[in-house]
Amino acid sequence: MAHSHSHSHAHPPRPDGTGGGQQDGLTEMLDLDAAVFGPYLATVTDRIARLAGDGVTRIVDLGAGTGTGTFALLERFPAARVTAVDSSPEMLARLTAAARDRGTAERVRTLRADADEALAGLTDTDLVWASASLHHLDDPGGTLAAIRSALRPGGLLAVAEMDGVPRFLPGDAVADRPGLEDRLRAALDELHAEAVPHLGADWGVRLTAAGFTVERADTTRLELRAPLPEGTGRYAFLTLTRVRDALDGRADPADLAALGLLLDGGPHDVRHREDLAVRSGRELWVARRPVDGP
Ligand SMILES: C[S@@+](CC[C@H](N)C(=O)[O-])C[C@H]1O[C@@H](n2cnc3c(N)ncnc32)[C@H](O)[C@@H]1O
Repeated sequence: MAHSHSHSHAHPPRPDGTGGGQQDGLTEMLDLDAAVFGPYLATVTDRIARLAGDGVTRIVDLGAGTGTGTFALLERFPAARVTAVDSSPEMLARLTAAARDRGTAERVRTLRADADEALAGLTDTDLVWASASLHHLDDPGGTLAAIRSALRPGGLLAVAEMDGVPRFLPGDAVADRPGLEDRLRAALDELHAEAVPHLGADWGVRLTAAGFTVERADTTRLELRAPLPEGTGRYAFLTLTRVRDALDGRADPADLAALGLLLDGGPHDVRHREDLAVRSGRELWVARRPVDGP
């Protein structure tokens, strides 16, 4: 996704949407991710609700994007209002329109801010949700300290991350390129190690270092097979298009050509193949600002 905040360096395009000034397809991909993995998102909000107890009224969605977390949390916590924070005005505009369409506009406030710089004005928060956003930051440790200050004592921070780009194909799916997705993921890992060093971090360790008490840490392996939720083919297409753009000139040309066959409208295209599946690893940490302490 386009980083709209004013970092001095530009990240190259990435399949989870960061860097490179490319917003194309990203907002749709975020919405489709929530649609395809809706049941998982509901499980996550359940887990958070069990730890949060009653009385959640103030929620912050940090790096809210198109608002997939905002809307799931509004549903789970009917008495709550959400402040959706993002550095991208395009994301916030889309989130505002979606809130209006859903009839929840009066429960959503947007705040354009760079989470690397400050979270000024956010206080007494019951719950902060940060999904696929902390890894974008230059100084996540500084932001974790700012989140702790924005929470009331006893308030919760939930951090959700993906363990990389989802997989969509059996190993031999593109006739002469078995193991294609594994090699593409390895090439992406290499790119991310340089460009997005906090991706794949152990947030449990960082949360503890920032003075939180980690109360839950889950890794969930999701595997969807036919009949797939509506939009899955399109989700695969958008995801793999971003992979192709990110790896252009950086992966084996034969692998990139095979990847092109998954996107070209021909017989291998992910938008209409019957062996499409989705495998994705999701991580969740739920941590509390201690009641006693700074
Ligand atoms: C991968 S998207 C995730 C969006 C949403 N949380 C979700 O799970 O669908 C990351 C979001 O973080 C935002 N972001 C990246 N760096 C940021 C920063 N420094 N401050 C605020 N938001 C940031 C991006 O604009 C983008 O909307």
